[in-house]
Amino acid sequence: MPFVIAIDGPAASGKGTIARALARHFGFHHLDTGLLYRATGARGGDPVCAARALSPADLARPDLRSAEAGQAASRIAAIPEVRAALVAFQHRFAAQEPGAVLDGRDIGTVICPDAPVKLYVVASDEVRAARRAAELGADPAAMLVQLRDRDRRDSERAAAPLRPADDAVLIDTSDMGIDEAIAAAIAVVDRARR
Ligand code: CDP
Ligand code: CDP
Repeated sequence: MPFVIAIDGPAASGKGTIARALARHFGFHHLDTGLLYRATGARGGDPVCAARALSPADLARPDLRSAEAGQAASRIAAIPEVRAALVAFQHRFAAQEPGAVLDGRDIGTVICPDAPVKLYVVASDEVRAARRAAELGADPAAMLVQLRDRDRRDSERAAAPLRPADDAVLIDTSDMGIDEAIAAAIAVVDRARR
């Protein structure tokens, strides 16, 4: 059985950084599931058709990391048929040997509820906004408004809302550097694999 690490949390909490590092450390595959929603939103047109027609070229678009692509993603991500169209790909990805790390919003709750390791990564709103603003060269105050808007939409939607799984381990990266956050995550996985 492949080993699955499910990582969820709000925008810019550090999920992706931790997910990439865990995949490298353990030799696992990594899927940033947010890219699926960003690419679906960026295709335009009917979002359900867009999700069903996603191709590797869509996922390689360089404009997917923008704040606008994030907002568009969170709007189409509330549509149950869009989410349903993306499930099979995520399940196939998670089934790869020797293991996979998936990060997103509903990995521990909906996509891989049996994952032996579930992490829920958080950081204060201000820290998250400052980090994402630095990354995109944007204004932290405007970014704070945007991230809160997106988190609220992601948390309040009926379909696979953002929330920690009951058995998720919380990692608060507000006062952690990247290396410290990664070390904390590796320790959780090591405990589960023992
Ligand atoms: O994947 P997610 O949107 O949750 O966040 P990320 O892309 O991993 O991290 C957002 C930004 O915060 C990146 O620029 C990271 O380098 C930075 N970061 C940080 O400064 N300290 C951490 N402990 C984790 C991430
Ligand atoms: O990196 P960041 O946390 O800012 O965003 P992302 O992970 O790329 O996700 C972009 C948007 O896609 C989120 O705001 C959610 O609306 C949606 N998403 C989702 O609904 N379910 C997932 N598993 C991943 C992302």
